[in-house]
Amino acid sequence: MSVPKHIAIIMDGNGRWAKKRGLPRNAGHTAGAKNVEKICLAAKKLGIKYLTLYAFSTENWMRPEAEVKALMKLLSGYLDKCVQTAHENKMHLRVIGDISRLDPKFQEQILEAERISSVYDDLHLTIAINYGSRDEILRAMRKVGTAIRDKELTPEEITEETFQQYLDTKDLPDPDLLIRTSGEQRLSNYLLWQLAYSEFYFTDVAWPEFDEEELKKALNVFENRDRRYGGIKEE
Ligand code: IPE
Ligand code: IPE
Ligand code: MG
Repeated sequence: MSVPKHIAIIMDGNGRWAKKRGLPRNAGHTAGAKNVEKICLAAKKLGIKYLTLYAFSTENWMRPEAEVKALMKLLSGYLDKCVQTAHENKMHLRVIGDISRLDPKFQEQILEAERISSVYDDLHLTIAINYGSRDEILRAMRKVGTAIRDKELTPEEITEETFQQYLDTKDLPDPDLLIRTSGEQRLSNYLLWQLAYSEFYFTDVAWPEFDEEELKKALNVFENRDRRYGGIKEE
């Protein structure tokens, strides 16, 4: 079985999952956060090397303040726990997105978790927090502009490879497979550059219920896709 090296997931549907059960939206987020641990372990077991999870978008600040607060608290709590599991599972943790808008304590916590886990290589778990692909590309453009101004780079040197080095994902390969749970079929500003040649898999299953079996279904579909990269199939 050809297992994708890198899977990116848009973890959607926590709110609808909760509503269906007569629970508040935040109960859905709690259930969703718990599921992250399970999926990390399942991914590692299945031989996936890179997992990149969309946890909070640049657009998610538009949600009610109480929900944003609850999400930040959950993420910070999750990260705390994650440092322990990082040791147990030899997991290299990264955060992508503009963390400068987050609470300073949370920022420190992120940097520390990244530092501590950087020695591990079994599973590379990346969490997107205050991440928006357009924002990431613009931040990269500003860095490129600064490098040109400071004569560290010439415009001719801007190739796909050099530009990639200015993105938050500079240390990650492009995802082979994108999964979005809970029915919506859009990218919602996720990894626009990086997903240029990825396979897409959409499922109606809500994130809190997306388990190892569901992940295996996605892998089966992926295995049967005909990836061509613009070429033609060799006979
Ligand atoms: C995904 O679930 C979690 C975040 C976007 C933070 P949602 O909260 O978007 O759940 P739905 O889409 O409203 O069901
Ligand atoms: C995308 O989900 C962002 C995350 C999963 C973190 P949303 O629920 O915010 O996306 P839209 O608003 O339905 O596009
Ligand atoms: Mg949603």
